[in-house]
Amino acid sequence: MTMKVAVLISGRGSNLQALIDACKDEAFPAEIVLVLSNKDGVQGLERAKVADIPTASLSHKDFDSRESFDAEMSEIITASGADFICLAGYMRLLSDDFVRTWRDKLINIHPSLLPMFKGLHVHEQALEAGVRFSGCTVHFVRPAMDEGPIVAQAVVPVLANDTPDSLAERVLEQEHALYPLALKLIAEGRIRVSAERVLVEDQQAPSTALLNPEG
Ligand code: GRF
Repeated sequence: MTMKVAVLISGRGSNLQALIDACKDEAFPAEIVLVLSNKDGVQGLERAKVADIPTASLSHKDFDSRESFDAEMSEIITASGADFICLAGYMRLLSDDFVRTWRDKLINIHPSLLPMFKGLHVHEQALEAGVRFSGCTVHFVRPAMDEGPIVAQAVVPVLANDTPDSLAERVLEQEHALYPLALKLIAEGRIRVSAERVLVEDQQAPSTALLNPEG
């Protein structure tokens, strides 16, 4: 049975595209049943339409609280038949209620090697710190921003002449490989969260992704 996934976006949607492309393979164990944006007219919604995936967009301006906005999102997601959510450049904080409702059924991709460099301006932070490696992380979502059990990470070198943009580009390339890989592991039922750490069964890690060792 394929896992039914809703993808939440706010913009460009290049990670959404990577997931759409992965799902085109009939052997891929997940299917995107909804793309939901908190912004109208963004490129990600176009990508979904081109791929014939149902879309919805919601503006927080039509709601009086974060909780009521998120409750409406939850309803739309449930009505779509989705039982799992991928955040892909979704730029709004989620309420604790939403995170609790979808606990261990909600993942995010972040362009750093968490727990380093949370929040915004991630690549500026990495360059400022002078790290030699950066990368990206797929993690289960918890109420605190950019925290939660790590499913998979990919590492990229930081080069001497890197700018935030050049580093972002190199990391993004890995994001597009990592997100489908993480979703595949989860959809295959090979991921378990235990004591807030992710255990991966039958791990066969490709060279670009450093997955957590089996417990
Ligand atoms: C990505 O770098 C992702 O890691 C971060 O936001 C960016 C979204 O890019 N959470 P896109 O919309 O997927 O192109």
